[in-house]
Amino acid sequence: EGLHSLMVAAGKLYFGTAMDTKNFNDTAYQAISTNQNEFGMFTPENSQKWDATEPQQGQFSFTQADAVAMKVKSNGQLLRCHTLTWHSQLPSFVSTGTWTRETLTAVITAHITNVMTHYAAQCYAWDVVNEALNENGTFRSSVFLSTLGPDYIPLSFSVAAAADPRAKLYYNDFNLETTPAKADGAVAIVKLVQGAGVKIDGVGFQAHLNVGQTPSRAQLAATLGRFTALGVEVAYTELDVKHPKLPTSEADREQQAADYVAAVGSCLDVEGCVGVTVWQFTDRYSWVPGTFPGTGEACLMTEDYVKKPAYEAVEGWR
Ligand code: XIL
Repeated sequence: EGLHSLMVAAGKLYFGTAMDTKNFNDTAYQAISTNQNEFGMFTPENSQKWDATEPQQGQFSFTQADAVAMKVKSNGQLLRCHTLTWHSQLPSFVSTGTWTRETLTAVITAHITNVMTHYAAQCYAWDVVNEALNENGTFRSSVFLSTLGPDYIPLSFSVAAAADPRAKLYYNDFNLETTPAKADGAVAIVKLVQGAGVKIDGVGFQAHLNVGQTPSRAQLAATLGRFTALGVEVAYTELDVKHPKLPTSEADREQQAADYVAAVGSCLDVEGCVGVTVWQFTDRYSWVPGTFPGTGEACLMTEDYVKKPAYEAVEGWR
């Protein structure tokens, strides 16, 4: 038993989780995360982001992410790599620099080439471009958009394809599950990259969902299907389901279980959905309460590693 084993038995590639070096000295956490039946895939939660890997122009730092990659590899598990071109957790040399088309193209090219070459053949997939869209499906403002227009997206994929031909190249975003206009924007991004003759392999659905506001399993599967119809694979890359209000009732926790099953089940229902990654499996390390104050308890296990109804439901395919 275990979530990864169940996914593999269902014909999927993996069940995974975000993890980072901050979790290494927690023995209870490690006992669970190193269980190969439970997790087959790991995403470094922060240590491969631009501010971590290239804090100053041309100065690359891989110590933290290497530690994650090594632990995962030595335990026979796989890595999803995250992320390259993103407006957030971007070092100030990029976000506040004065750029031309030529100089910013060179900076993006150097960043992607260096980081992907360092991890070549170690990443099942890379989230090449992250969160390029507004909720209404238009392109999000960033130094990338204001300098290069939407061209920075095919540019990023093109550089990525050359740097590590073995990695699957993903566009990754949130609320694609819930917001049709934003999903339209992501469809347009896939077509933009494909139309430029550049490789794009997948679309990542972050799936930062809310208890009681999660679309049905059939609705979620239909949205995934919009992308597999374009010839790309899909995955849930950062799944968590937060309670909008705390404390929670037993009914809230049962609703959370239903919402987790809807998400995981929709991946099972779509042939081109390769796997599910949760954004931490225990509330002890969830990003949710810090980022969305007043909300929380978004993970499959409590702070004390007790399996919630959501865990039992996913494991039981209830
Ligand atoms: C979050 C991490 O979980 C936090 O630790 C960090 O402070 C901020 O970033 N979308 C993404 C992830 O693609 O990288 C984000 O991770 C959550 C939202």
